[in-house]
Amino acid sequence: MQISEEQGNFLQIITATTGVRRALEIGTFTGYSSLCIARGLPSDGQLTCLDVSREWTDIARDFWRRAGVAGQIDLKIGPALESLKKLDDKDPIDLVFIDAAKEEYDAYFEAVLPRVRANGLILFDNMLWGGRLGRGPIEENSGRAIDALNKKLATDPRVESVLLTVADGIQMCRVK
Ligand SMILES: C[S@@+](CC[C@H](N)C(=O)[O-])C[C@H]1O[C@@H](n2cnc3c(N)ncnc32)[C@H](O)[C@@H]1O
Repeated sequence: MQISEEQGNFLQIITATTGVRRALEIGTFTGYSSLCIARGLPSDGQLTCLDVSREWTDIARDFWRRAGVAGQIDLKIGPALESLKKLDDKDPIDLVFIDAAKEEYDAYFEAVLPRVRANGLILFDNMLWGGRLGRGPIEENSGRAIDALNKKLATDPRVESVLLTVADGIQMCRVK
């Protein structure tokens, strides 16, 4: 389920070059994407990770420790939409990476958008949906949700968006 290596490099580069200090990841799994984001942060930067699985994220914790970034990552276990309601709002977020339940992507977007600073970034994984979009009717709820979100983001006046064709597609939104 983890992102590809080139997506990992992209996340690390975009985090480092855009001066991200506060990042949020929704969907952590065994920790690869979070590790790439954490490696792009300055030494006082912070990453909050949301995931429902303690089993997968126990593996992530081990890799964060071995990579020396564990102190910069705050993991919250539970359904992401619940964790988002309880998130500390004191500092605006610079970058969000979304890679959890596809049917909930739009709800994650609406929950994080007011918390992201102007010119901050919201990134979504799997937005090409394996190349299956635009090829006739979409059966799966998750595919329909991604298709609808791509269409919404293309004209949403609150963000400027570009669908990057790296691996399974990263939709990158700049918050206005
Ligand atoms: C595709 S994997 C994430 C992969 C990760 N970004 C990486 O590159 O290694 C999706 C993750 O989202 C988590 N997840 C699924 N539904 C969720 C939900 N409603 N709330 C929080 N986490 C969820 C799963 O437990 C899983 O670890």
